[in-house]
This record gives sequence, C-alpha cells and structure tokens, in this order.
Amino acid sequence: AKLSVRDALRVQTASGERVKVQGWVRSVRSQKEVLFLHVNDGSSLESLQVVADSNLDSRELDFGCSVEVQGQLVKSPSKRQNVELKAEKIEVVGNCDPKDFPLKYKDRPPLEYLRQFPHLRCRTNALGSILRVRSEATAAIHSFFKDNGFVHIHTPIITSNDCEGAGELFQVEPRHRVGGPLSFFFIDVPAFLTVSGQLHLEVMSGAFTQVFTFGPTFRAENSQSRRHLAEFYMVEAEISFVESLQDLMQVMEGLFKSATAMVLASCPEDVALCHRFIAPGQKDRLEHMLKNNFLTISYTEAVEILKQASQNFTFTPEWGVDLHTEHEKYLVKHCGNIPVFVINYPLALKPFYMRDNEDGPQHTVAAVDLLVPGVGELFGGSLREERYHFLEQRLARSGLTEAYQWYLDLRRFGSVPHGGFGMGFERYLQCILGIDNIKDVIPFPRFTHSCIL
Ligand code: 4AD
Ligand code: MG
Repeated sequence: AKLSVRDALRVQTASGERVKVQGWVRSVRSQKEVLFLHVNDGSSLESLQVVADSNLDSRELDFGCSVEVQGQLVKSPSKRQNVELKAEKIEVVGNCDPKDFPLKYKDRPPLEYLRQFPHLRCRTNALGSILRVRSEATAAIHSFFKDNGFVHIHTPIITSNDCEGAGELFQVEPRHRVGGPLSFFFIDVPAFLTVSGQLHLEVMSGAFTQVFTFGPTFRAENSQSRRHLAEFYMVEAEISFVESLQDLMQVMEGLFKSATAMVLASCPEDVALCHRFIAPGQKDRLEHMLKNNFLTISYTEAVEILKQASQNFTFTPEWGVDLHTEHEKYLVKHCGNIPVFVINYPLALKPFYMRDNEDGPQHTVAAVDLLVPGVGELFGGSLREERYHFLEQRLARSGLTEAYQWYLDLRRFGSVPHGGFGMGFERYLQCILGIDNIKDVIPFPRFTHSCIL
C-alpha cells in the first residue's frame, strides 16, 4: 500500500507490512553496513527513517533528491520513532546535485536567507511547519464561523469601490486596453483589486444576519515594513443587529482564542518547532495572551498614556493623529503584553462608514482596533453608520454620494444597527507563531519591488 510519511509514522505496531513511501530526501548517512535516509513528503514535520543495506546502489541518493521507497515497516530500535522503513527497493525519481542545491543538509538556515528561494524554501522544516500551520489555521477559522452560525460569502476580487478610501488601490485593466478610450467594464469609474470585502459583506449581512469572508486583499502600500504586504489574506465578519462595540469585541476575542486553540490541537509539533527554534519564549507569550481577558482602552486614554512616555517615540503622540507602530507596541507592553482593544477614534481619521458617536468637540466614531504583542494592529473594525441622514452627510462631505447610492439604499430598505471587523491573516500567524517578518508566513510574498514567481 502507498502511505504518506505521516500515516507511516502513525502505525503503532509495525508487523512488517509492505508499503511504498514517496518523498524528498532530508538526510543521507551511511555506516559500515547500513544506509540511513530520512524521507519527508510534507505531510508532517517528522521525516520517516529508511534503513537500507549498504550494498544498495546509493550513488544518486543525495540530500534533496526525490525517491520512492518500497519495503517493510518495522519497529524501530531507536527511541525517536516508533517505526522505520526497511527498504527493499529505493528508486531515485529525480536527482539533486548537492553542489548546486541552495539548501544544505543539517543547516537551520535563517528565514531571511530562505526568502531568496521562494521556489525551494517550502522544503525546509521551518517553512514546512509555518505553511502547515497556515493551512490548519484557515480550517480553524472556517470552523469557528460555521460553529457560530455565520454564512460564508465569496466577495469579489475586482470591484469599483474603494472601501478604505486610503488611495492604495491597484487598478485593473486588460492588457490590450491599457490607455484605451473605454474601460473593459464600461463604467465611468475604474475597476480595482479589492482592499476589503466589507461593503459587499454589509450587503449580505442585510440578508443573512451573520456573514464572513476570507480571501485575498490588495494594497499598493509603499512600505518595506515587517507587517505589510501588497497582497494579503483578510478574515472579515459582518453582523446585523449588533448594538455595541462590546458585542463585536466578544466575537473578535472568541475568534482569536478558539482558532488558536484549534491550531494548537491540530498541529502541535509544527507550532512547537516555531516556538522552539524561531521564536524562543513565544510559547509562554501566547499562553499569556490566551489565558487573560483582552483589555479595552479608548483612543483618548491611549493618547494620554503615550503622552506620558513621549520621550520614547520618534513620532509625537497627539490627539487627532493616527497611532504609529511604535505607539501600538508601547501600548501593548503598557498593558502587560495582553491584547488590547483601542476604541472610539477621531472621526476625522476614519472612513465614511464608521458610526458617529455624536460626542462633542473631540468628535469620535465607534471604531475598534485590536493591538497584539509583537505585531501591533491585528484587527480593525467598527459599528457602521446605519442612519440614513448621518450617512448621507458623511458621503456628501467625501464627495461619494453618487457612487454610493446602492450603499445608501441599504439604509432605506430595512436598515439595522450592524458592525464588523477584518483580521489580517498573516499578522495573525505572526502573532501566534512569533514570526518577525510577514514575508515568512505567506507562500509567495508580494511587496514593493518584489513579485517573483
Ligand atoms: O484596518 P483595515 O484597513 O480594515 C479594513 O479594511 C476594514 N474594512 C475591515 C472590516 O471592518 N471588514 O484592515 C484590517 C486588517 C488590519 O488590522 C491588519 O491586520 C490587516 O488587515 N492589514 C494588512 N496586513 C498585511 N499587509 C497589509 N498591507 C495590511 N493592511 C491591513
Ligand atoms: Mg486599520
């Protein structure tokens, strides 16, 4: 029978059954009478030990080559694994010249070095574990929403709206029409890659009450930071009949904690590899986040805290100005490295759709960001302006009235108080695994000056 490495390793009492295993060689070691191979097929962090007679032709068996091994699964004398594969036949499927192969046997290369080889780095333990965690986390997020009665919506990638209004749009035109007189979509506004599925989710929450989407979003951010990509995945939820930010924050905290618990249960070895070798101390930091209730402070309080410590910052904290990464990191530390919700931001800083708090001279909206250790902003969300006249005025002030008639319609036809949030999926992975650079938690990172492969 053909077995994956993972399934082979799970065999508890090997009674010599004949199996076939395929994969890539992670190590070759020859002793006097035996040859030891470790074969990995990506199904688990652990490789399967293959033991062969040393008179077997091993000339092409190099680190990195692909092999098919047939033999018997037997009990292993070693304490490190239950079983090993006693090879009867080893076929090299594709060879690999170790002279030219950039990955080296026995190395634990830094993630930064591996970034040069986006087509090969997935064959290392580190990227293997990170990307398996990514896969498990995707499933965990879907099951959180399913278990809580949300409907999954495929929001469009190509859209004519600019949800965040931050001017970081990628424009879409077919190649043969670039510079031509008419847009492909024949509309008087250009089409873009989406920066957020929020507005489409708001449409859907007006029918399904609780909805979510989880897909790629695009931002032309001219940034070389460790937490920005031009293409990243966002988890977004939108909930009707939500009365307060606290209701939303409960869902955000629930999503973070239950998805993380599911990931820890489904791939503990992969998480442990990151916590042990990439981010020492991260296991404790994550446990600390999971066992404490997240905190809440207002934006105004946050600015007061920052002002007390302004000598620490490059950017002076001031009411009415956006929080910088350095400010976010300071606030999280100040809160004992427990994730903290910052609520009620100045109206002037935020997009047209956020609900007006109608609160005097320091005018705020019902916005919420969740700041987490190591990363800073992980979630952004808000109550939405569901009152027709308030929204009409906000749109008018931004010169958006015409384009957003359909959005105003949602406030004319059965409007309800509602709200939602978006969580950057790569930042989530950085936060739980302790990965410093966002480029290491996505298979093929896209950022300024880089779109290889
Ligand atoms: O705070 P943002 O811009 O919020 C929105 O787009 C809302 N429309 C979401 C909603 O309410 N449905 O983005 C949400 C999150 C951020 O908190 C951050 O974690 C992540 O998306 N994010 C990025 N991640 C990687 N690279 C970038 N360039 C990112 N920009 C935002
Ligand atoms: Mg934000």
